Amino acid sequence: MPVVAVIGAQWGDEGKGSVVDFLAQEADVVVRFQGGANAGHTVVYRGQPLALHLLPCGIIHERPLSVLANGVVVDVSALLEEIAWVTQRGVSVTPARLKISDRAHITLPYHRLLDGFREMPPSRSRLGTTQKGVGPTYVDKIDRTGIRFADFTDLERLKSKIAFNWEQKVSFGDGFLLQSGLTADSLFEELVSNYEKLKDFAEIMDTVPWLNRLAMEGKRILLEGAQGTGLDADHGTYPFVTSSNTTAGGACTGTGLPPSRITKVLGVAKAYTTRVGEGPFPTEMPWEQQADLRERGREYGATTGRPRRCGWFDAVLVRHACLINGFSGLVLTKLDILTGLPTVRLATAYRWQGRFLEFLPADSDVLAQCEPVYEEMDGWLEPIGNIRRWQDLPSNAQRLVDRIVELTGVPIAFVSVGPERDAILFPDGGGAIW
Ligand code: GDP
Ligand code: IMO
Ligand code: MG
Repeated sequence: MPVVAVIGAQWGDEGKGSVVDFLAQEADVVVRFQGGANAGHTVVYRGQPLALHLLPCGIIHERPLSVLANGVVVDVSALLEEIAWVTQRGVSVTPARLKISDRAHITLPYHRLLDGFREMPPSRSRLGTTQKGVGPTYVDKIDRTGIRFADFTDLERLKSKIAFNWEQKVSFGDGFLLQSGLTADSLFEELVSNYEKLKDFAEIMDTVPWLNRLAMEGKRILLEGAQGTGLDADHGTYPFVTSSNTTAGGACTGTGLPPSRITKVLGVAKAYTTRVGEGPFPTEMPWEQQADLRERGREYGATTGRPRRCGWFDAVLVRHACLINGFSGLVLTKLDILTGLPTVRLATAYRWQGRFLEFLPADSDVLAQCEPVYEEMDGWLEPIGNIRRWQDLPSNAQRLVDRIVELTGVPIAFVSVGPERDAILFPDGGGAIW
């Protein structure tokens, strides 16, 4: 009964999409369990990069079924656009292939507007969100006023719930929502019309018993995390986080699969670190030094196009992720991007007010004051993008990977050296994931 979770070990964009794409070749089901249209997972499809936001990366493969489980927040109009976009590129999306949990919450237009409003100057609580309405949708979920797919069983009740929510929200922020031209009726009508369209592409169902049955039958289930541990609402760099649990625990609550069903948890980390949006980032390079890494690694947000902040590998952050997620193995991505650097730095601890910290402090202001303690290793000059055997990696690249294993205490499952599906290498003796 292999159930493998793929979890980001940094602040997102670690290459989870590529890892899921590789593992999905042998999966029966690929499941998104948290987050919403804020995710941007890029895979290579028919030789072209394809960024997926809500659809699980398994959708580009013929074999696995795709699931948006109960923990995901679904913007139905964004999902329809994404379906149209991937369909034009030859991907097949049908109710037989895409299942959506009737417990999943729905992002409505006012969630997006509220998300944008909070981010607008002179807001003092700006987080640099993706403005996809994800945070406000989870606020309603926890406030117990959210709209779920299950609400479509009674349209009159759905209509009154939307009217109630709209009434509660319009008074917010000097009534700016009223200027949008939206009304409770227009919100209801648009949602029902989008829901009807969605039924041509997805089956809305109770995914919880279904997924548990598949797991019991021994089907291969891949749980595709979005964002990363540094953005987890409980364990990330609060308040500069996303509004869901991006970690292994979130894979259970977000699917209804119990912890005892998960057989492996793979952590995905880049060989350096990036972050999009606000928040502390101890190993961030000075801005003028970031351009080189950003251009080599094409570090621009897949969802918003924003340049990603770039810095060195942070073993404190990844160790924190190993602790919380209990990774069975680490996947180290983008090792190829470090080629040509004379030296590579790794942060092994933080220094704060004369003390050494080995784990992330809870307070973001303290984290912002932390100075990384760096270790420097020799780099390598040879391009490694075409290497497919561990023993062919330059010895300095091998040493870097070995040092990361020592610093995190977690073995390497595999290393990736390019965006293509086959650009991976297994360490000696490795290979079995499922
Ligand atoms: P995700 O959000 O974790 O799925 O990551 P993103 O898709 O946002 O960003 C990772 C980017 O790096 C994508 O464009 C991938 O195609 C690319 N990528 C993944 N692994 C590698 C790698 O090993 N080398 C290189 N050069 N690119 C990679
Ligand atoms: P993937 O799945 C990187 C960041 C935003 C912002 C914070 C909160 O591609 O790794 P939100 O819109 O979620 O309320 O924004 O989280 N963020 C991401 N950063 N990759 C992502 O997704 C992200 N999703 C959200 O930039 O700092
Ligand atoms: Mg991404």
